[in-house]
Amino acid sequence: MAESKRTHVSGRHFLQIPGPTNCPIEVLHAMSAPTIDHRGPTFQELGKHLIEAIKPVFGTTNPVIIYPASGTGAWEAALVNTLSPGDKVLCFETGHFATLWQKMATELGLEVEFVPGDWRHGIDTDKVAELLAADTERTIKAVCCVHNETSTGVTSRIGDVRTAMNSTDHPALLLVDTISSLGAVDYRHDEWGVDVTVSGSQKGLMLPPGLSFNAVSDKALEAYESSTLPKSYWDWKPILAANANGFWPYTPATNLLYGLKVALQMLEDEGLENVFARHQRYSRATRAAVEAWGLEVLCQDDREHSGALTAVVVPDGFDADEIRAIILDRFDMSLGAGLSKLAGKVFRIGHLGAFEDLTLVGTLGGVQMGLNLAGVPIKQDGIQAALTVLEQG
Ligand SMILES: Cc1ncc(COP(=O)(O)O)c(C=O)c1O
Repeated sequence: MAESKRTHVSGRHFLQIPGPTNCPIEVLHAMSAPTIDHRGPTFQELGKHLIEAIKPVFGTTNPVIIYPASGTGAWEAALVNTLSPGDKVLCFETGHFATLWQKMATELGLEVEFVPGDWRHGIDTDKVAELLAADTERTIKAVCCVHNETSTGVTSRIGDVRTAMNSTDHPALLLVDTISSLGAVDYRHDEWGVDVTVSGSQKGLMLPPGLSFNAVSDKALEAYESSTLPKSYWDWKPILAANANGFWPYTPATNLLYGLKVALQMLEDEGLENVFARHQRYSRATRAAVEAWGLEVLCQDDREHSGALTAVVVPDGFDADEIRAIILDRFDMSLGAGLSKLAGKVFRIGHLGAFEDLTLVGTLGGVQMGLNLAGVPIKQDGIQAALTVLEQG
């Protein structure tokens, strides 16, 4: 690639990775307030507000634990608070993040059955039913699912996973990672009978990285009582006890919590149904562009296209990372890289969080120009195809 001749970049950087996402100006302003005493009355009021205000976005009336941590911490919290050494858990290879979570479970001393997948489909719900039905001794203690695989742009159907679990009457816990779906893709913790929902602040919630969550069911709280995996920082009990008074047992991420208050209000004002529909519309418009360019979307099941991101397969002989590098250099736009076995083979377009029609048009414009500059043979109809979807409202 030719050396960049640019010495100055004007305008704003286009951060179109599938998280961290762009923070709305209202959220940035809220976070720039002076830090307060996290054991004082002003914080207590904020804490009491947030532990209630966070619930609807998970679709729950049960407690949601908020950690000053990245999403990986909340993965660990979900496991160590509900399980014991040697417990068997069922995980599904839907992509890079599902692979990392099962690796963590193994490292923590759990016995993982990792059901292979092709990284182009979500969780096979027939397989869920088959494996649980075969487990007549009820040795499987938890089923771990990634709702939205950020590495592939495939959303697993968690409601159908629950139906498959119910069909076998198996008592395993259902643990679900919603790190890149919460506040972007329809999700229902209570209705789908999820026991622990894991999430993070930096994607659909439109905040910087640094907060993560465990929404917990009554059954998960019951499992906590007999769980013996070591836990200290992640231990739910001391946090829930302190939360009852609006506090945390250690220093919470005060300024991120200011931002969370505003972000939750923004989601409530827009209405979650509208938020989900907006993301689906951007997903449809992006797919229309990809198909009109003559390229392929990684996700292969029409029921599973992610509202949060689209992974685009690059034709043989081209390197997705070189295309991304050209786009960053020429148009100051960051796109998501292909992760682990998809490295160089796909790039990912994030269309989640604080996002409007013209952001998508600009993003797709940058992608089309970048593909042309990289010499990828595409038809020039992609932008028009996306505009047609957007014009339809
Ligand atoms: C689906 C999913 N799970 C887990 C993680 C890990 O979260 P973090 O990087 O915040 O620790 C990510 C990060 O992108 C993710 O997208």
